[in-house]
Amino acid sequence: MYLLPISPYDTGSAVIMAKINVGLDIGFSSIKAVSLVKDKDKYKLVSLGSIPSPQPGIASDMDEDLEALAVTIKKLLTAANIEQKEVVVALPESKVFTRVIDDLPYLTDAELASAIRYAAEEFIPMPLSDVNLNWQVLVRSEARGKNAKTVVLVIASPKNAALKYIKTLDKAGLRAKVLETEILAVTRSLVGNDPFSPSTLIMQLGVTTTDFAAVSKGLIWLTRSISTGGIALTRSLVQRFNFEMNQAEQYKKIYGIVEDQLEGKVFEALKPIIDIIAGEGRRVIQAFETKYPLNPIKRVVVSGGGAKMPGLVVYLANIFGLEVQEADPWYSIEKEKDSVSKLAQEASSYSVAVGLALRED
Ligand SMILES: Nc1ncnc2c1ncn2[C@@H]1O[C@H](COP(=O)(O)OP(=O)(O)OP(=O)(O)O)[C@@H](O)[C@H]1O
Ligand SMILES: [Mg+2]
Repeated sequence: MYLLPISPYDTGSAVIMAKINVGLDIGFSSIKAVSLVKDKDKYKLVSLGSIPSPQPGIASDMDEDLEALAVTIKKLLTAANIEQKEVVVALPESKVFTRVIDDLPYLTDAELASAIRYAAEEFIPMPLSDVNLNWQVLVRSEARGKNAKTVVLVIASPKNAALKYIKTLDKAGLRAKVLETEILAVTRSLVGNDPFSPSTLIMQLGVTTTDFAAVSKGLIWLTRSISTGGIALTRSLVQRFNFEMNQAEQYKKIYGIVEDQLEGKVFEALKPIIDIIAGEGRRVIQAFETKYPLNPIKRVVVSGGGAKMPGLVVYLANIFGLEVQEADPWYSIEKEKDSVSKLAQEASSYSVAVGLALRED
């Protein structure tokens, strides 16, 4: 069991306890928890931890599976010394419908609410009564006029998907302070809301999915999720070499997408799948740049467990012809010197959990 609970800060005082924010990322392969405390304008790391998810975990709808998941969550929080009962959690991108609506004129808040409901009916394949609708205004002209416009990011979360998370937390004796989406959390931890940061493509490589977000001026302009993730890479090695899943997983992590390892055999097996993921990334970049030609994508940040694959950053940099970085959600977080190198090893896995813990409301 992999667990990395560290508590470098004194959390004993009630005042500090009250300000601690906990992000809980319930992934298919592992659960990650991060607690941060806000001190003036800075966030400090209080503790963190990770634990393998029971299978099938959050993929299941069965009560007993969610029960097992709840037990594991409790175990993780205990090991990480997290006592808070309110946590911020996220729905996976693949379970929500996210869309930027950019063909609206200037609208007041009330007009916008009804325009969004109307537009949402087009891209949500289920009755509006079955979803929670949230939105964030990206652009709004100051007043009505010929060129006035409103651009808004709309997120529709199916109520039954949200319910499963709430039910699981309830079984673990926890309460969801906020339920948001993974891509919002990842964007917050990796780009923040800095209006001067370069336009960025975020790629979040999970187990069954890869999520993409085009982020500019600290705002999300385009998102996409595809059902090709880490497990597809592992399966490709299983098929090619007749490996067991565990062995394939090891080979993927050790050799990755590096051409001169094992005569390029692992590289050749992984390449077609990486190319599917990279191809989608390129389409997201193109779609974003067609719509917003003044803000071309300047860098790509790869996140999630899959970002740690040897050779991936270099491989993607060649494909995109852009600067590619491995995600570091800790960059803006104050931490003790001793923990820096430990945190760096698993950094990209914590992007969601850190982003959730950074959520303010
Ligand atoms: N060093 C590595 N090289 C390649 N792949 C890796 C490496 N470390 C982890 N992975 C892969 O990353 C995936 C797990 O990533 P992550 O922890 O982000 O997923 P998760 O949050 O549990 O799942 P999801 O977000 O899909 O629900 C697995 O497919 C795993 O094989
Ligand atoms: Mg995940």
